[in-house]
Amino acid sequence: MTTDPSLTTARLQDVRQCGINPNHWYVVARSTEVGTQPLGIVLWQQPIVLFRDATGQIQSLEDRCPHRQVKLSHGQVEGNRLVCAYHGWAFDGAGRCVAVPYLADNQKLPSCQLRRYPVREQHGFIWLFPGDPALAELVPPLDLPEWDHLNYIASVAVLECQAHYSFLLENLMDMYHGHLHQEYQVWANPVLQEIQETNDRIDAHYQAQSYYKIDQIWSIAQLFIPALRQLHPEPLQVSYVYPHWLATLGNDFKLCCLVCPIHETATRAYLIHFTSLNAFPDLHKLPVAFRQFLKNRLFGSAQHVLEGLIRQDVLMMEEEQQAYLQHPERRSYELNRTVISVQRLIRNQATGYYRST
Ligand code: FES
Ligand SMILES: [Fe+2]
Repeated sequence: MTTDPSLTTARLQDVRQCGINPNHWYVVARSTEVGTQPLGIVLWQQPIVLFRDATGQIQSLEDRCPHRQVKLSHGQVEGNRLVCAYHGWAFDGAGRCVAVPYLADNQKLPSCQLRRYPVREQHGFIWLFPGDPALAELVPPLDLPEWDHLNYIASVAVLECQAHYSFLLENLMDMYHGHLHQEYQVWANPVLQEIQETNDRIDAHYQAQSYYKIDQIWSIAQLFIPALRQLHPEPLQVSYVYPHWLATLGNDFKLCCLVCPIHETATRAYLIHFTSLNAFPDLHKLPVAFRQFLKNRLFGSAQHVLEGLIRQDVLMMEEEQQAYLQHPERRSYELNRTVISVQRLIRNQATGYYRST
């Protein structure tokens, strides 16, 4: 059982106060965010510093200098070491203090050991495992083959939301909220057909209509010119693959939301949109270098749409959070059983983890 006294049964049952199951890979940054400077992030109340060592490898340590408890992320990277901004103590990627600039001849290096987190750089993102390091190799990070595949054009937008992550997953799994999106509308008229649930994922199948059809090479212009869009039926499948989210709309679009819960009222996520070029076999015969050029050139084509969707969703989720904080006793009315499944999965992952530790 848990040793954390704040995790009472009532807290664990209230989905808005549920923690995370740390024994999964979370996305904490884009690869491009970690350059020559250290980057401080927070993953579920844990300040963590990421930096690239001299070989380009990502290292991740708790963001705390053991000397005076200030953030190491204010410091500098020198070779394979992270040097604290305050007195210049240096730490290696394993979290050991390896140099103190003013160490006297008769003094030894402090034997402090910072917590180190398993970390991977994959598909353009930094993935971090905040749980038991012994389990990190047994639990694979979410696979995103479309990121590198030449047949997919990617766009990425960052979602920053002052709300518990459960509000985000409910929003992503409840396709009836398309009503909100108006000019950014991607799908319409969803009807929930079926839900499948396991211990670590939910798959919800909707029949819907899509505004987009990628069957001509210039179809991507539909992202910018609403008049080119025409509603047509498509299956819409959304999946909560704990702790992340995937969706497909027909064969043309894939969406993915990589989640970084920060604390009980803050969540960051990366929303990725993939446009498929699978419908163009002639394109696939072109030289790989040209296809890579095309993929790179079209990267970000859906950025504007993604950012518009995020603005509208964040407004709603933050209002839900504020309403909850002011009146936690108020019950909401729910007609979409997918939302009930999302809450059950969040509770089971959080309570299952704490009960097993
Ligand atoms: S606080 Fe980091 S070196 Fe002193
Ligand atoms: Fe939305």
